[in-house]
Amino acid sequence: QKHIISIPELDRSELELIVETAGQLKAKPNPELLKNKVVASCFFEPSTRTRLSFETAIQRLGGTVIGFDNGGNTSLAKKGETLADSVQVISSYVDAYVMRHPQEGAARLASEFSNGVPVINGGDGANQHPTQTLLDLFSIYETQGRLDNLNVAFVGDLKYGRTVHSLTQALSKFNNINFFFIAPEVLAMPDYICEELDEAGINYSLHGSMEEVIPQLDVLYMTRVQKERFDESEYAHMKAAYILTAEMLKEARDNLKVLHPLPRVDEITVDVDKTPYAYYFQQAENGVYARQALLALVLNEEL
Ligand code: CP
Repeated sequence: QKHIISIPELDRSELELIVETAGQLKAKPNPELLKNKVVASCFFEPSTRTRLSFETAIQRLGGTVIGFDNGGNTSLAKKGETLADSVQVISSYVDAYVMRHPQEGAARLASEFSNGVPVINGGDGANQHPTQTLLDLFSIYETQGRLDNLNVAFVGDLKYGRTVHSLTQALSKFNNINFFFIAPEVLAMPDYICEELDEAGINYSLHGSMEEVIPQLDVLYMTRVQKERFDESEYAHMKAAYILTAEMLKEARDNLKVLHPLPRVDEITVDVDKTPYAYYFQQAENGVYARQALLALVLNEEL
């Protein structure tokens, strides 16, 4: 039984297997694969894509979902039950336990109390979002035909953005990836990620704006700059440097794809949606296939 808590615990061949399996399930749906399986979907924090795509994935594979959204009307939320006790109980009802929690390390803690039932991290605080990374990798592979030899830019909130932490660590397992980090200084990529890249001898560079790097890119991964982290004038001044418009993509390579974990606020203008570069809505759809693949593999189902 394997828990999916953080990307560093998955090796290259496991990532490739999940991507390949997602492709298989997208091409050939299997409505029986999780027949008789029950999966808990326990979200202690808001979610649209992660929760609903997991639940869609389970139901389209013939499985059953139990669980709650936003902490739910549960004993944990209303009566002071601990996460550890809650996980022990719920894991005795199910074959796998999917969770999102605002605290870093919550999924790891859950895995220690799940009695061997696989725990899948749907996001823990600002730490990790491994299943987002799996659908990101699948989307990159689908559009670029490879996961090696890529120029990838991350834009926006790189400090608190768990999706960019997990995806940087995942792509670092592949060969010849060049990273371009575009963020205000206060939202720069955390030191521990840069140190990991330094230790592995992986190229990365820091930039103040997107225009200077767009012509070199295969993947432009946008994220939301969170308004609540700045005072009003600072935010108004800064956010303009991190908004992507269709005009800015004039010099882009034909193969460039713009990704975003969503939700977007205004960091990608809607005119980008009509360009051939936009891939964020297909990326969100790919969440179903990547999560189907993960569940099938974690539950040792024969494909
Ligand atoms: N991308 C993502 O995690 O979206 P949700 O917060 O809607 O799950």
